[in-house]
Amino acid sequence: MPGQKENNRENNKVNNQEAPQDHAATGKPGLIPQNELNEINRVIAIMSGKGGVGKSLVSALVAVGLKKQGLTVGILDADITGPSIPRMFGLYEHPTPLGDLILPVKSKLGIMVISINLFIPEEDEPVIWRGPLLANVVKQFWKDVAWGKLDYLIVDLPPGTGDVPLTVMQSLPLNGTIVVSSPQDLALMVVRKAIKMTKMMNIPILGLVENMSYLNCPACGEKIYPFGPSYVDEVANKTGLKVIEVLPLEPDLTALCDRGEIEEYKNNPFAQGNFLSFLVDV
Ligand SMILES: Nc1ncnc2c1ncn2[C@@H]1O[C@H](COP(=O)(O)OP(=O)(O)OP(=O)(O)O)[C@@H](O)[C@H]1O
Ligand SMILES: [Mg+2]
Ligand SMILES: [Zn+2]
Repeated sequence: MPGQKENNRENNKVNNQEAPQDHAATGKPGLIPQNELNEINRVIAIMSGKGGVGKSLVSALVAVGLKKQGLTVGILDADITGPSIPRMFGLYEHPTPLGDLILPVKSKLGIMVISINLFIPEEDEPVIWRGPLLANVVKQFWKDVAWGKLDYLIVDLPPGTGDVPLTVMQSLPLNGTIVVSSPQDLALMVVRKAIKMTKMMNIPILGLVENMSYLNCPACGEKIYPFGPSYVDEVANKTGLKVIEVLPLEPDLTALCDRGEIEEYKNNPFAQGNFLSFLVDV
């Protein structure tokens, strides 16, 4: 019922204002409390079974979509060895200290961003740290960053089910994950691995996003499936998860990412009210 949802949203807002740490995951052992100077209401991680399916793009579009709907949003780039968020937003300045904390860099629309790339002198400098060090950086990005008051913190995870996704799931009070897949990653098994890991960690999975699912023919607008038929519905059926969005492969989008202008993408499905109302119950 739309009215009901609206009500929940109001209630959530009130609750969140009065008890900022009142989310589902609070109280789990191993969780790192948020810095007392911060007030982060919801934390959502974007994950995938394998690399290159568009997690970072989805993280960016989700953040921009929520921001465009008037919410305060941050992005924690947890992909330490392959960070791509700053480039998509055209961010190159260094974060500045604020007392003992670090101030995130603000995007053009006002999204707070923290990424290892912002600390590195040259954008293409490789980060060659090992697991434990990577995990520590992610924890610091959570507790030692002056995020301020955020309605949503979006966490862009590295691919797969390794150290860093595990650390994020153990240490951050996630309200849920969004699992991204593409029709190329034919092995259903790979997606299922990511789903299984999240379930084992007792974290709710909000749903699936299939990226690069189809192409709109530039001549007639007909949908073309360059990577074969979509199987997201099959995954959804077999796992009981909801399909949140199916995104086309859009050359414009690649160009916007490369130019650091992701915020200008006009067809962002996450900027629509139905995405927000979907998140309300989370
Ligand atoms: N729907 C799309 N249309 C056009 N280009 C896309 C689309 N999705 C992703 N891309 C492009 O594909 C590349 C890979 O996307 P992205 O970096 O989001 O993947 P990822 O899953 O985060 O990768 P990694 O596993 O390396 O972190 C990017 O350069 C992006 O510009
Ligand atoms: Mg990425
Ligand atoms: Zn055509």
